[in-house]
Amino acid sequence: MGADRADDGDEADRAVTQSLPPYPSTVGHHLTHTVGAMRDVLGFRSRAMAERDLVRIHLLGPGDVYHLGHPDHFERVLLNDRDRFRKSDDFQLAFEGGLVAVEGETWQRQRDVLQPLFARDRLVDYADGMVEQIRRRCRRWTPGERIDLAAESSDLTLDVLFATLFGRELAVDGDEEIRTAASHLHHWFAPTSYPLPTWIPTPARLRFKRGKRRLQDVATDLLEEKADDPPADPSEADDLLSLLVALRESGVESEALSDDRLRDQVVTMIFAGHDTTATAISFACYALAHHPEVRDRFHAEVDTLDGPPTLDDLDDLSVTERIVTEALRCYPPVYTIPRETTTDVTMDGYRIPAGEPVWLTVDQVHTDSRFYDDPETFRPARWDGSLRERIPDFAYVPFGGGPRRCIGRRFALMEAKLALATIGREYHLAWPGTEPDDPPLLAGMTARMAPGTEFRVQSR
Ligand code: HEM
Repeated sequence: MGADRADDGDEADRAVTQSLPPYPSTVGHHLTHTVGAMRDVLGFRSRAMAERDLVRIHLLGPGDVYHLGHPDHFERVLLNDRDRFRKSDDFQLAFEGGLVAVEGETWQRQRDVLQPLFARDRLVDYADGMVEQIRRRCRRWTPGERIDLAAESSDLTLDVLFATLFGRELAVDGDEEIRTAASHLHHWFAPTSYPLPTWIPTPARLRFKRGKRRLQDVATDLLEEKADDPPADPSEADDLLSLLVALRESGVESEALSDDRLRDQVVTMIFAGHDTTATAISFACYALAHHPEVRDRFHAEVDTLDGPPTLDDLDDLSVTERIVTEALRCYPPVYTIPRETTTDVTMDGYRIPAGEPVWLTVDQVHTDSRFYDDPETFRPARWDGSLRERIPDFAYVPFGGGPRRCIGRRFALMEAKLALATIGREYHLAWPGTEPDDPPLLAGMTARMAPGTEFRVQSR
């Protein structure tokens, strides 16, 4: 599929003479793409990319969108040729001056300032707090009851984020303002709205605007709360909010982290740091409910623990770790990594003009049979051997790649392992109905478990 994939370098001149990538032949005329994508964004794209790694999709609003689905494309866009691909405007619209959206020097300074909070030795301090928050929530479940796992895991990961990174415990059945504001940024990417021209004020866009304002207010309030007792020096801050407040007070980094940018970091962390991990946890539980043989191995492993999991147990939880790895492969929370070309580029022998949206399709790479046997099947044991070494680096990319790889990946992996082990020692979350036709996946800015997806709590 696709010749000359490695095209790169200064090819702008040559690119002008080349043709644009074709519209796919598998999803009807390009003027019908918008309807197909609005109906079922992931299914549409899987059909569209069935024959090629690079296709052009036409959406009424954004116009042509170039979908890239080979690990070599990811490596080039995220690493080797990254100067030709900038973050798309959608990032600024949602996160303004937050780390996930900014570019260049500003990004580098922000990343350097925030990185220490996510360093390996720092994560050690978060483990106990994570388990405490997870247990606090699970203790409320009673055997036999049905829980909305999408809501529970989203609340759980928000509890963890606040207690660890923000140094502020949320009320287990309260702080609703924060909890609801945190979910609204998804609406910008609602599949029923995103493909339409931006001048149409769809209900999803209006919800996005209201939700974003609320989330910004929440972030400002959180920073103000911390401002009452700021650390004397940024190096003494032991959580993100204190660090940001201390930076503001000390005037250090005032350019890279102006007042609005401090607020935007908090918005970014709230959004990027909880629903993504909630998806990993809820779909791992979903997969366990449907794969009894995996579940038996998982329960056998967590039953060897003396009590609730601790930091010291993490290395021994290899079955649990592979369940998380495989859940992130089958149900990647960030299913698209969007960029925009800064110049004309040549890709697989085709031209992609400057200023066009380029979408790296994580879900396609993760289910590509050239890299994974039986790719649609949830099989954590596939990671037992040397698979990681045998597949290309960019064939497994739940956290992206290159310098802008997820800053919170270690945090997320630790949290997901600890959450599964804590839940699994006491409960089995059973699927109450018959086998579903499709996983209950809802695609917004990230992919999440559909709200209202219920599981029955069974004690073990
Ligand atoms: C399973 C959970 C998670 C997944 C799948 C995930 C995925 C990703 C991906 C794919 C990117 C790259 C986006 C791009 O290149 O455009 C990213 C970036 C980012 N993530 Fe995560 N993430 C997760 C958890 C977290 C957590 C827990 C935090 C913070 C507490 C976090 C904060 C961020 C931030 C701030 C960035 C921007 C980094 C930069 O541009 O330098 N993420 N994440």
